[in-house]
Amino acid sequence: MGVKQDLSQPPMIRLDKLVKIYQEGTRSHTVLEEVSAEFAPGEFVVLLGKSGSGKSTLLNLVSGIDAPTRGDIWVNGAPITRMSERERTLFRRQYIGFVFQFFNLIPTLTVAENVLLPVELAGLGQAGRERGLHLLERVGLGDRLQTFPDRLSGGEQQRVAIARALAHNPLLILADEPTGNLDEDTGRQVLALLDELTREVGKSLLMATHSSEVVGLADRVYRVRHGKLIQEAAEFHGELGD
Ligand SMILES: Nc1ncnc2c1ncn2[C@@H]1O[C@H](COP(=O)(O)OP(=O)(O)OP(=O)(O)O)[C@@H](O)[C@H]1O
Ligand SMILES: [Mg+2]
Repeated sequence: MGVKQDLSQPPMIRLDKLVKIYQEGTRSHTVLEEVSAEFAPGEFVVLLGKSGSGKSTLLNLVSGIDAPTRGDIWVNGAPITRMSERERTLFRRQYIGFVFQFFNLIPTLTVAENVLLPVELAGLGQAGRERGLHLLERVGLGDRLQTFPDRLSGGEQQRVAIARALAHNPLLILADEPTGNLDEDTGRQVLALLDELTREVGKSLLMATHSSEVVGLADRVYRVRHGKLIQEAAEFHGELGD
């Protein structure tokens, strides 16, 4: 808790009557049905919900990787749903960091090159590169810069992915089940690191997860269910059932 709403600042994320319908042949599947919500800057928001409920769909819409059927999304006041694809890509490169369940490191690039790629794509110079390398120190991999991802454990790969997601100093970090492929202890360490590094710099974190560990760290917990986004009351935080 302790996130103060600054009225002079726009919400970090604003969802307005967001609809996502997947069309499969003649059948249509409504995954999100008029979802509206606002998340403040600096907040750590968790998305729960059973498999297939629409958590990844929502994260992909907020990141601009995918477009909604209807409705609008603003990120830090910018209407990403009204941008061209090119504008959205540039916006994402500058302002958003993404941590995936399967790490998604580029196998032909070293640890350092993986982390420095978003820095280069965002057009950041030496200061950006130093920031990326510093983050690798912070995640405990400063001595593995020239290593390739296939030589790292799952937990180590995810720590590289966290450094990569933060390297270009994004405003918003999206994480889709970042501990889904890690054992419990490693998962806990990765979560603590993600929480610490994002809070330290006052960034916003939106995370989809099945892990009950996260709930205690989050400022707010939502559940995706039957196409709606429902905020969980504090007393239900410990219950992960659907
Ligand atoms: N490209 C697509 N085309 C058709 N249907 C899709 C597509 N992507 C997702 N879906 C469907 O949308 C629903 C929501 O999927 P989504 O991946 O968002 O769920 P999720 O909550 O992330 O699940 P999990 O916890 O298993 O990751 C599912 O029923 C899925 O089959
Ligand atoms: Mg998912």
